[in-house]
This record gives sequence, C-alpha cells and structure tokens, in this order.
Amino acid sequence: MTTINVITRSGDTRALAAKPGQSLMELLRDAGFDELLALCGGCCSCATCHVTIDDASVAKLPAMSDDENDLLDSSDHRTANSRLSCQLAVTPDLDGMTVTIARED
Ligand code: FES
Repeated sequence: MTTINVITRSGDTRALAAKPGQSLMELLRDAGFDELLALCGGCCSCATCHVTIDDASVAKLPAMSDDENDLLDSSDHRTANSRLSCQLAVTPDLDGMTVTIARED
C-alpha cells in the first residue's frame, strides 16, 4: 500500500491509501478534498490542482513537462516544490510523501 499524507489549506492532515495507477489529483479528488478544484480534469490546462511536495520526496518525482512548468508559472504561490497533482502518478516509491494543497490563486 502506498500512503500519501495530505495537508489542507487550513492545516489539517490526513493519510490516504493510493490505488495502483491513480494520479495524485485523482487520489485527492476521490478522498473529497474539494479545495483542490482540478477544473480541467487532468488535462494540464488549469493549474487548479497545484500542490507542494515535501523536500525528501520532490527529488523522486519525474521531471515536469514544459506545459506543467508554464502553468505553474501562472501561480502567485509557486515554490521550488510546486507540482500539478494531475501530472503525477502515485507510485510505490512515493510511500510516505507529504503533499500540501497550494493556496488558491
Ligand atoms: S487538473 Fe487541471 S492542470 Fe491539473
């Protein structure tokens, strides 16, 4: 089982069990985190699935595409650990990763 820890905008923390093949956005959406809008449904065209990743885990993630990078540039809240959750598959090596839902733009 792959466990992902989620910190909401209000600072609440929850541990989620990911299913194989799920994107991080799908995991958050299916768990009922309504503050993650994910308006485009995962097409990498809205940036409303913006999250930040803990320092130890961010290095394990695949490189981002130019589209993801450009979309994140549109956010006032981008950090060095920002990613779009729809572009990340939850894989077993990410077990224990902590994800913070980014502030709304
Ligand atoms: S859901 Fe729109 S960019 Fe991720």
